[in-house]
Amino acid sequence: MAAYETVGVVGLGTMGAGIAEVFARAGLAVIGVEADPAALERGRGHVQRSTGRAVSRGRLTEAERDEIIGRVTFAGSLEDLHEADLVVEAIPEVMGLKRALFTELDRLCKPETVLATNTSSLPVTAIAATTGRPGRVVGMHFFNPAPVMRLVEVVGTVVTEDGVAEDVAALARRLGKTPVRVGDRAGFVVNRLLLGYLNHAAALLERGVASRDDIDAAMRAGAGLPMGPFALLDLIGLDTSREICEVLFQETRDRVHAPAPILRELAAAGLLGRKSGRGFHAYDGAGRDTPGTAPGGEPFAGTVGVLGEGAEAFAARLADAGVATAGPRDAGLVVALSPAPVVQHAAGLPHPERLVGLHLVGEEVAEVVSTALTSPGTAEAARRLVRGLGLTPVACADRAGFVVDALLLPYINDAVRMYDSGYASAEDIDAAMRLGCGYPAGPLETLDAIGLRNARDGLRALYDEYREPSFAPAPLLDRLVTAGVTSVRSR
Ligand SMILES: NC(=O)c1ccc[n+]([C@@H]2O[C@H](COP(=O)([O-])OP(=O)(O)OC[C@H]3O[C@@H](n4cnc5c(N)ncnc54)[C@H](O)[C@@H]3O)[C@@H](O)[C@H]2O)c1
Repeated sequence: MAAYETVGVVGLGTMGAGIAEVFARAGLAVIGVEADPAALERGRGHVQRSTGRAVSRGRLTEAERDEIIGRVTFAGSLEDLHEADLVVEAIPEVMGLKRALFTELDRLCKPETVLATNTSSLPVTAIAATTGRPGRVVGMHFFNPAPVMRLVEVVGTVVTEDGVAEDVAALARRLGKTPVRVGDRAGFVVNRLLLGYLNHAAALLERGVASRDDIDAAMRAGAGLPMGPFALLDLIGLDTSREICEVLFQETRDRVHAPAPILRELAAAGLLGRKSGRGFHAYDGAGRDTPGTAPGGEPFAGTVGVLGEGAEAFAARLADAGVATAGPRDAGLVVALSPAPVVQHAAGLPHPERLVGLHLVGEEVAEVVSTALTSPGTAEAARRLVRGLGLTPVACADRAGFVVDALLLPYINDAVRMYDSGYASAEDIDAAMRLGCGYPAGPLETLDAIGLRNARDGLRALYDEYREPSFAPAPLLDRLVTAGVTSVRSR
């Protein structure tokens, strides 16, 4: 196994400065190379501030801080990288720049040096091919901010020599990171699964299934994710998000990766997200989301009729909350606990405009579904009822999967397909999404919690409605349900 002691970092911008710090903290000698003198000073300042904070929090002694800083040579030149055992490139995401740099690194570094790229979306194989040592070129994909995020995707290509990706993964462990080993496919694990889901959220918004705030609230409170999809798109940047989707689409030719038109429109208007002060959300000077209007506080008044599976238990919950119930023909508000189409329950009701669907998601969210016949007053009354029960209402249209299932199930399905193709192990896929995105569970763990049959049936309903080929249940999921297997991970 190769012992890496001296590493080079080329490009000390957002990612490179953090990566240099991570290496130095782990005891490696670091040679930093930066083309822009101002960026070089920012990179140096970053490492000084970051280690200084660690001293003030008691995590490092002053002597340790001085040692860490002493291990980094900031103003290195590419020639200084001759002795490096490993060089990590973190220059802008532009293929021409990366190829030119790798040709140069190949010329200047000793033959054994491993050359790694931190690219998020460019093909590592194409970068490797510009060198005379394609077998010693890998991806080492850190996440932002590098000193904090534990995940590193280690990307091997079809020509990577045996042992090289393993050595780089071992180095990542030495840095205190969790490496996942993947092949060279667009987006690797995290961006491929994440951007597919985020792009789909933008498509649901464009189709008018639910509002920006309702979709964000549904995925936070209903699916337990740390951020809603539009808040996250704003954080990543709508220009970057659109570019990653484009790269995914070029490889997969899957319509779900074709950037949603709204991403292009907002990006073209300069509404790039947090970095420009406005994207899907608007941000104040301190980068905080400016709050929308607070929900109305009036309590629900009137009678409720309940239809569908679990009606009795829900009526009992209403009675406990002091809400009067009545028969569906007489009630002022009729809720159907039902999958889409909710409107099927309208037939036979004397007042179909009083009907909404109600879908409870987890402990905190109820999707409030308006059919084509629901009156605006009914939808508002249902939202008040839901708030009175201590739940977050998510207003949405009468479409398969409503909001949460429509977003979660295709993402899980993509993860099952990714696993089934042998691209990454189930543990690595789950670890990548937990550590790379801060999700409470990985997609295959979430699949077990939902139940394979429920997920398969939900995907069938989504496919039947939207006719999106990638919503059709992954063949593996279908087979496991048929075989009565309850976990992809136990295979
Ligand atoms: N920003 C993120 O969240 C993030 C996360 C993971 C991966 N990445 C990837 O990391 C890479 C760097 O991204 P970033 O956000 O840090 O970019 P950045 O623009 O903040 O930093 C790039 C730095 O490289 C320098 N540079 C350009 N050409 C150079 C050269 N030939 N030699 C030396 N220095 C050079 C620039 O002056 C700049 O300081 C990209 O491939 C990006 O896709 C970014």
